[in-house]
Formats: sequence, structure tokens, C-alpha cells
Amino acid sequence: MTLAPDARAVRRLIRWFDREGPDLPWRRTRDRWAILVSEVMLQATPVQRVLPYYEDWMARWPRASDLAGARLGDVLAAWQGLGYPRRARNLHAAAMVVADRGWPHPDRYEDLPGVGRYTADALRCFADELPVLPEDVNVRRVVARRFPDGWPGAPRGRAWHAGQAMMDLGREYCRARAPLCDAGCPLRAGCPAADAGVVDQVTPRTRRQARYEGSMRQRRGFLLRALADDGRVRASRDLEAAESLVAEGLADRRGSMLVPAGSGR
Ligand code: ADE
Repeated sequence: MTLAPDARAVRRLIRWFDREGPDLPWRRTRDRWAILVSEVMLQATPVQRVLPYYEDWMARWPRASDLAGARLGDVLAAWQGLGYPRRARNLHAAAMVVADRGWPHPDRYEDLPGVGRYTADALRCFADELPVLPEDVNVRRVVARRFPDGWPGAPRGRAWHAGQAMMDLGREYCRARAPLCDAGCPLRAGCPAADAGVVDQVTPRTRRQARYEGSMRQRRGFLLRALADDGRVRASRDLEAAESLVAEGLADRRGSMLVPAGSGR
């Protein structure tokens, strides 16, 4: 059987991954809960930064039912430093659904709180080993440059490897800025974007992250950190940020004080 060039490229990619792919803790499991935790953490946070959080989290709450029984304030305190705490609140809500009703059918992962298309596909591919490619911004960029005719699919039984390999390729070689096409990219041969010298142009636009300094994100972050450290904080320290945390269920108000979400309930 002769394989189309793109299908051959996917095989090369998987061979590269088998040789060089880093051994990350979420790659040693197919447990849905572990995959969900890792993928939610990895959504807006780099691998190296996620690693200690993931290890601590899974040691403390190894199953969805463990997190479901935790207080949201403790969950947010454990998330402290990862950023975008809404992710932790959603994870807590998803854990409660799973503890209550079990996992939805893989076609229905999107029913879980905070689980969008990417996370649902990551669960299908990395936990269930179903033949789908989870496309985050990195993977989308690799597909646009290297497979402009569309993702050709993985060989049977190798979707998990192909998906993980695409993550690594996007992070290590096919980077948004200063891609390393000619510094060892395993898919350089036959890359349409590199051959045409247009790699930089074939970079799907992403929303630029707003400045963090002086932002509401930063102000909310200060309050959440103080809450995690001290257990309570005067709302008047930053009323606007305090209100916004309360409105999103990330903290509770008790009189003039801000207290951890879910405390005393
Ligand atoms: N980024 C998102 N998911 C990932 C994974 N499973 N491995 C490495 N980086 C990732």
C-alpha cells in the first residue's frame, strides 16, 4: 500500500515522539480525571509551571469525588499562582457532576462545566484513545502550516501518540515566533509553509493577552492570594475587584470582609 505524503509525515512525527517525547506524568495514565486536571491546567499555563501543581493536586484529590468533597476556597487556594482561577472553579463544578452522575458518554463531555471543544477532544483522545485530534492554539498552528489540506488522521490505534506529538511539535519547533524549521524539525521535509518561506505568515491570529500590570486580573489575583494566605481580607482593599470575585463565585462576602468561597456553608 502506498501512503499519501501527509500520512507518511504523521508516521514520522509519531516515530519522533516515540524517541524524544518527554515523559510527563499525565502521559502515564488514561484516567479521565487525571487527563481533565492536566488539560485544564495546561490550557493557559506552560508545562514546566504546571508540573508541580499537577503532582500536588493529584496527590491531594486523586479522584473527581475527592475534589467534589473539597471546599471551593481550598481548591482556589491550591490553584493560587496558576492564574485564571475560573478554571479551578469549573473543575470543582465538573468534579461534583462526575461524583454525582458519573462521567458522561464521550460524545457529551462538553456537558461538563468549563469543558469546551478542546478539552472534550483532549479527553476523547488522551483518556479514551479515540481517533480525534485535540486542537489548541499550538496544534492549530501546526496543522495550518504543515497540513494545509487538513489533518490526515493517525494510523489505527495511534491517535493518542499523534495528538501528544503535535503538542510537543508546536511547543518545541513549530513555535508561533521564531519557529525552528531548519534546526531539526522532524516534519521539515515536505512542509508546504517552510518550502514556500511563509511560515510566519501562516500563523493563525490569536487574541493578544491584555497587559497584566494594573489590570483587573492582577487586582483580583492580589485579593485571592491574600485570601489564600490569610483566610480573610478587607473588601475595602479593592472594592471593585472584591465585587467581581464575589459575582463570579470565587470569594464570599461576610460583612466588610471577603472570605474564601464556600466557607461556612
Ligand atoms: N499542552 C496541552 N496538552 C498537553 C499535553 N497533553 N502534553 C503536553 N503539553 C500539552
